[in-house]
Amino acid sequence: MLTAKEFLLVSRLILHLNSQSPEPPFSRTANYLESPEAQGNGGLFFREEGFWNYTTMLLREDLNMLILGARDAIFALDLDDITAKKAMVNWSVTEQQQKDCVSKGKDATNECKNYIRILHKNKDGSMYVCGTKAFNPSCDNLSYANGTLNLQKKQEEGKGKCPFDPFQRYSSEMVDGALYTATATNFRGLEPVMMRSTDEIIRTESTSAWLNEPNFVYMAHIPEGESNPEGDDDKIYLFFTETAVEYDSYTKVDVSRVARVCKGDLGGQRTLQKKWTSFLKARLDCPVLNINLPLLVQDMFHMCQGDWTTCVFYGVFTLQLDSAQYSAVCAYKIEDIKTVFSESKFKAPFTVETSFVKWAMYSTELPDPRPGACIDNHARKKGFTKTLDLPDKTLQFIKDKPLLDQAVSAIGKRALLVKSGTAFTRIVVAIATALNGRRHHVMLIGTKSGSVMKAVNYEGEMVIMEEIQVFEPSEPIKILRLSNTTLYVGSEVGVAQLSISECGRYHACLDCVLARDPYCGWDLNTGRCSTIDSTHRTSTMIQSLSAGDASQCPPIGGSKSDNISFFHGNTVKLPCQPYSNLAKVHWQLNGQPIRPSDTFQILSDSLMIVNASAEADGHYTCSSVEGKYKAQHVAYDLKMWSGPGTTAFLSDVKEKENTLVAMVVILSLILAMLVIWNLYKGHLPLPCCHSRVKDTTNTCGDERFSANQAQQQKVASSTVNMNSNNNYANIQRCSTETDRLSTTVGSSGQISLRYIDDESEI
Ligand SMILES: *[C@@H]1O[C@H](CO)[C@@H](O)[C@H](O)[C@H]1NC(C)=O
Ligand SMILES: *[C@@H]1O[C@H](CO)[C@@H](O)[C@H](O)[C@H]1NC(C)=O
Ligand SMILES: *[C@@H]1O[C@H](CO)[C@@H](O)[C@H](O)[C@H]1NC(C)=O
Ligand SMILES: *[C@@H]1O[C@H](CO)[C@@H](O)[C@H](O)[C@H]1NC(C)=O
Ligand SMILES: *[C@@H]1O[C@H](CO)[C@@H](O)[C@H](O)[C@H]1NC(C)=O
Repeated sequence: MLTAKEFLLVSRLILHLNSQSPEPPFSRTANYLESPEAQGNGGLFFREEGFWNYTTMLLREDLNMLILGARDAIFALDLDDITAKKAMVNWSVTEQQQKDCVSKGKDATNECKNYIRILHKNKDGSMYVCGTKAFNPSCDNLSYANGTLNLQKKQEEGKGKCPFDPFQRYSSEMVDGALYTATATNFRGLEPVMMRSTDEIIRTESTSAWLNEPNFVYMAHIPEGESNPEGDDDKIYLFFTETAVEYDSYTKVDVSRVARVCKGDLGGQRTLQKKWTSFLKARLDCPVLNINLPLLVQDMFHMCQGDWTTCVFYGVFTLQLDSAQYSAVCAYKIEDIKTVFSESKFKAPFTVETSFVKWAMYSTELPDPRPGACIDNHARKKGFTKTLDLPDKTLQFIKDKPLLDQAVSAIGKRALLVKSGTAFTRIVVAIATALNGRRHHVMLIGTKSGSVMKAVNYEGEMVIMEEIQVFEPSEPIKILRLSNTTLYVGSEVGVAQLSISECGRYHACLDCVLARDPYCGWDLNTGRCSTIDSTHRTSTMIQSLSAGDASQCPPIGGSKSDNISFFHGNTVKLPCQPYSNLAKVHWQLNGQPIRPSDTFQILSDSLMIVNASAEADGHYTCSSVEGKYKAQHVAYDLKMWSGPGTTAFLSDVKEKENTLVAMVVILSLILAMLVIWNLYKGHLPLPCCHSRVKDTTNTCGDERFSANQAQQQKVASSTVNMNSNNNYANIQRCSTETDRLSTTVGSSGQISLRYIDDESEI
C-alpha cells in the first residue's frame, strides 16, 4: 500500500533543471508542493512486501489490468488504480535449482532467483512468460481467470528467449503468435542471438560480423506488408549497441545499431539454413554538437498515427562513458530507416597489412536479388517466392556482410533534446491533441535518478514542461508503459502510476497558458486550468503552445496594492513569486525600474530593501516577464512610520492580508516589552521561553483557522531574519508538521518572533 510519504514523493516536482547542456532546453516547471491538487495528480504506488525488481510489464487493456513481472512473482494490478492488486502468482526457484546455481559461483540472494523477463499476450488471450530461473531460463503459459493468475506449469526451455543473467539487457516481441527475442544464449552471458521461436527456430549466424558483443535494447514489429505497393513484407526491427568494426581505433568503441529481419523469412536452403536471410544492420546516429564519439541507445519507442509510413522511432541516448552524463533524444522516420536498408551500399571486411581487418564500403556490383531484401514483387517476378528459393550468391553475401555502409540519420540531423545531469534511461511518447486540433508528440523520459521528464518539441523549440521525481531516494527508472494518458513507471523497488494530463496544479491563467502543456488550457468560463477534451473544445478556452502568448488571459493584479509601513533602518522584504521558473521578476518604484544596489536587492522571488530610509517610500510594482509576455501582479505602497521606533526588527509581507501586519507587530512588540518588564520585575516565573500558540496539522489552502490565527501565523512566518536564510523556505511551504510560534528574548535583548519548524517525521 501507499504511505503518505511515498504519495508525496510520487507527486513531487523538481524545480531545478541543469542549465549546463550544450543546447539548453527551454524548460519550465511548476511547484507541486504549493498545490493542494497535487493529491489529484493520480500518483499511486505499488510494492508488495518482500518482493523486488518490478521491471517487466504487460498492459492488458482488454482485461483492464497491468501484468507486472517481478522477482519470483507475477502480479495482476487494476489498470486504473495499481494499488488494487487483483491477483498474484509465485514463481520461484526450487531449492535444488538454487543449489545448482550457487555451485556455479552465482550469488544466492540476488542472482539465483527467478526474474520475470518476458511477458507477452498469446493469440488465445493467455500470456507467455519467461524467467531467468536461477541461471536456467524457463518459460510457461500464464492465464487469468476467475480472479486468479495461473501458471500452466508445463515449463519450456527458455534458452535464447530469456537471458540467464538478470543484469543483462534483452529484448522481445510477439508477432502473430511467434516470439522474437534477442538475448545471450549461455550461462556466461555470451553467444548473442536474435531468433524467432516457432516449430522451426530461425536465428542469427554466430559470428561477430552479425552481432559483436551486443547489448539489446528494443524490438518493434512494423506491419509494412499490409500496405506496401511493392508487395514487401512486415519487418521486425531490433535496436542495440555493439562494438564497432568500422572505426580506426585502438580502443574499443561502441555504436548504436538498428537491425531488421523480415517476418516471412524461413532461412536459406543450403547457405544460411535456419538462419535469417534478411538480417541487415546499420549504424544509428544521434548527433550532438561537440561530441565526436557515437552516443549509445538506451531505449526506443515507436508510434504510428496511421499506416506504417507514419511510424516514428524515438530513442534516448547516453555517452559511452557514464561519468560525463550527457543524454539526448533523437527521432527517426521509418521511411529513412527503410531507405537505408533498401538502398545503401554495404560495408565489407578488407585485410590491411597481414592481420588487421578494416571494414570499408563495398563498391562492386551486388548480387540480384539484393542481399537481405525481403521477398517482394521483384523477387517473385524472378521466381523466388520464399527465402528458401534465394540463390546462394545472395545468401553468401549477407552471411559475410550484413553491415550497411550508410548510417540512419535522425530527423533534422540532430538531437531533439540534449541535457546534462542525470542520464536518460527510458522513453515513451504520447500524442496530445491541442485546442486547435493539432497533434503533438509528448515525450516522457525516465532518468537514472528516478524522475520522469515531460517534453514537447514545438517547431524545433524543445520545451520541458516538468520533471517529476517519482522515486526518492532516487532509483533508476527501468521501464515505462503508457496507456492512454496514464503512465506506469517501474523500478527495482516499486511501481508508480501517474497521470500525464493533469492541469489542476496551474492556478493562474498565465501559469496555465505559459506552461505550454498541450493537454491543458485555461477555461475562461470556469476560471480554471482544465484538461482539454472534446467537451472542452470551446471558444472559452485559451491555449498558446508555439508562441507562449498569454495576452488573452484576463488582466490580473495592478488594481489594488498593499500598504506597508516600516521603521527607519528596517529591512523590508516584498515577495513577488514569478509565474514560472522561466519568468523573471521586474520591479519598479514610482514607475522607474529599480536597479540592484546596496539598498535594493532583487531576489528571484522578492525584493529586499535593506536599511530602509525615507527614500524607500513609494509605490512598488512587480511584474513577471516571460518571453514576450509581461504581467504586473503585485503592488505595494511603502510608507516610513514616523516615531521614535528605532528597534531594528524585520518586516516582511506577503500578498494580501498585510494591512494589519504593522499593527500586530507593534502589539507584539508592546506585549514582548511587557513580558520583559514582568520578567524583570519577577512577576512571571521563567519556566521556558517558548509559548505554544498554535498547534495544527493544516495543509496549504486550508482557510479554516480563524482570521486572527491566520494573521498571527502570517506575522510569524514573515518575520524573517536576514541572517538565517533557512527560514525563507518555510514561508510558502505546505506543511503537515507542527508549527509553533514562539516569542523569544534573545541574548542581545533584541526581540524577535521566530518561526519554528518541527522537522519530525510523520
Ligand atoms: C533487484 O532489486 C534489488 C533491490 O533494489 C537490487 O539490490 C538488485 O540488484 C536487483 N536485481 C537485479 C538483477 O537488478
Ligand atoms: C507467495 O509467497 C509469499 C511469500 O513468499 C506468500 O506470502 C504468498 O502468500 C504467496 N502467494 C501465493 C499466491 O501463493
Ligand atoms: C502455451 O499455449 C500455447 C497455445 O496458446 C501452446 O501452443 C503452447 O504449447 C503452450 N506452452 C506451454 C509451455 O504450455
Ligand atoms: C471460473 O468459474 C466458472 C464458474 O464459476 C467455472 O465454470 C469456470 O470453469 C472457472 N474457470 C476456471 C479457469 O477456473
Ligand atoms: C483516454 O482517457 C480519456 C480521459 O480519461 C477518456 O475520455 C478517453 O476515452 C480515453 N481513451 C481511450 C482510447 O481509452
